[in-house]
Amino acid sequence: MKYFSEITTIPVYPNLLSEMNNMLADGRIAFDEHNQICINCIPEHDDIHYGTGSLNFDWSQKKTTVVNGQETISVPRRTKEQWIWEEDFTEVCSVFKGTGFEQAFLDLKSAYNIGRLRLMKMSPQRGTTWHHDEPNQKRFHYPLYTNPGNFMVIKDEVLHLEQDKWYLTNTSVDHAAFNASKEDRIHLVAVKLDMFDYFEKSWKPNTDKFKYSGWGLLNLIREDETVLDIGCGYNEFKSHLGDRVYGIDPANDCADERTAIEFFKTDKQWDVVLCLGSLNFGMPATVEYQVERAVELCKPGGRIFWRQNPGDQDHPWDGVENIKFFPWTMDLNYEWAKKFRCTVVECKWDSNNRIYAEWRKHEDID
Ligand SMILES: [Fe+2]
Repeated sequence: MKYFSEITTIPVYPNLLSEMNNMLADGRIAFDEHNQICINCIPEHDDIHYGTGSLNFDWSQKKTTVVNGQETISVPRRTKEQWIWEEDFTEVCSVFKGTGFEQAFLDLKSAYNIGRLRLMKMSPQRGTTWHHDEPNQKRFHYPLYTNPGNFMVIKDEVLHLEQDKWYLTNTSVDHAAFNASKEDRIHLVAVKLDMFDYFEKSWKPNTDKFKYSGWGLLNLIREDETVLDIGCGYNEFKSHLGDRVYGIDPANDCADERTAIEFFKTDKQWDVVLCLGSLNFGMPATVEYQVERAVELCKPGGRIFWRQNPGDQDHPWDGVENIKFFPWTMDLNYEWAKKFRCTVVECKWDSNNRIYAEWRKHEDID
């Protein structure tokens, strides 16, 4: 099977089901309206329900509209203020301290880059919609209680996941699950954060290949300008620009600071910001926020240089099949530049089917 694989390197926990049942029975834990319980949490929110449901969409604002008798559900994205990141779920919720759930969390965390670890209940005769989860992630599934009427479907593959076994599932593509039985199904599900593995282990720089968004940029950066290189990879501009450039990257030790832009904390702004193929992954809300951050980090009147992939999964390296490239367009450059109060100075096709763009941040902000 292409989308499912059994994982035998993670320990199994035959006592977890009874442990969960005991905790439910004595009221220490309870499933919420999402039928979920989150084992881990963001340190300042030690709450088993803080990490349940979607981190991208605000289901409390769900709207149902009926047009010509056809019912359609729409759910808005979380606003920026409500955004929560998988990467922040670093601690086990205190109620699970000393339990098998903490052990499972620690075992997973020691071997993989994981986000949330959740108990997910599916009621009898229920199923999910056909959807994909956040690109660049996978899910570990460990059925605590299941029966033969339960299946997961990913694209054209269907599998009954057996109790007390670990599976790695590629839920970044279209999938669904259903419980055709007469009992609740309980899975322990962990988010596996994949993208950084790819950039750490497989990806290689190819700056030479780009006519505009490669070394040609050196001619556009003045000698007195400071440069922030977002997603700097091997920090190649450093050897040309020295300490005037500050490179950040969540997946490369050559960065001056190993961090994702979402977590980069600074009071500084730079004359020039480079986003060379780096803000190109994840859901629109994710990328839009990254773009906003890139603009924030640029001085008023400063410039942002872009290399953007229009959504082609065309890297030649192992693991690229698990990477979802955000489909940049030229129109989007104009739309987001305007939204974040920049002017598009130039936007054109670069080599290798990439978009090259230069934005200038308006003087009158910040
Ligand atoms: Fe899903």
